Amino acid sequence: MEIIIKQDSREASHAAAGVVARLIHEKPNAVIGLATGSTPLVLYRELIRKHKEEGLDFSRVTTFNLDEYIGLEKEHEQSYHTFMWENLFSQINIKAENVHIPDGMVADVSAFCTEYERKIVAAGGIDIQVLGIGSDGHIGFNEYTSSFASRTRIKTLTQRTVKDNARFFGGDKSKVPHHCITMGIGTIMDARMNLLLAFGEGKAKAVADTIEGPVAAIVPSSILQHHPNAKLFVDEAAATQLKLVDYYRWVYEGKPEWQKDA
Ligand code: GLP
Repeated sequence: MEIIIKQDSREASHAAAGVVARLIHEKPNAVIGLATGSTPLVLYRELIRKHKEEGLDFSRVTTFNLDEYIGLEKEHEQSYHTFMWENLFSQINIKAENVHIPDGMVADVSAFCTEYERKIVAAGGIDIQVLGIGSDGHIGFNEYTSSFASRTRIKTLTQRTVKDNARFFGGDKSKVPHHCITMGIGTIMDARMNLLLAFGEGKAKAVADTIEGPVAAIVPSSILQHHPNAKLFVDEAAATQLKLVDYYRWVYEGKPEWQKDA
């Protein structure tokens, strides 16, 4: 794991955007896994800026989103379809046919999930998977006790996630769907790089458990300790419960010149 602690979420998001942009420069037909929630918003804004001002070209990029609520139409204002089109896709030159987001209204969920996995493989696998993290350590919607071998499937949200996400539904818990389709932890672990963003004090415990806790299904994100190329971009507030914070800074600041952008 590489722990990158930046002053604030803006700096961290811009550094993460640099990693994504470099991939697209090096591999114009890159496959990128994307996340929703408030955390990746600044990263997406920076990618849009790079597209508009620096010509970052998404015309051959393929994307796969992590998850979607079951029971929300694509057009619903809180669907992850709406989120992604509003906050990223409508402002870059990505082709609609290259965008993949689980369909929360599909009749046969199991068949859909199998096909989603097949499409990821057919696209060549995910080069970079962008992740946020729930306050309980969930990634995608893989709640605690999710199998580390899980693939795309239906999941039930925890009551804590329903409560956390009620803020997007006017604060009304009863409006938050209880089920979702999410890529599995096995799917996420297959990505060639995982890039996790975590900001704010509310994520500090989850971040510490992810990096310094035991690998255990009770904290799904802890599996990233087993990933060969996981980068964690956190702000100062999210780093407050890390025991080895000075070590992570020392490693990052002392990176050899040739490794600095890697
Ligand atoms: C949801 C999403 C996750 C996201 C998490 C954190 O549960 N399914 O992918 O990481 O929320 O959201 P936020 O970034 O708003 O804190």
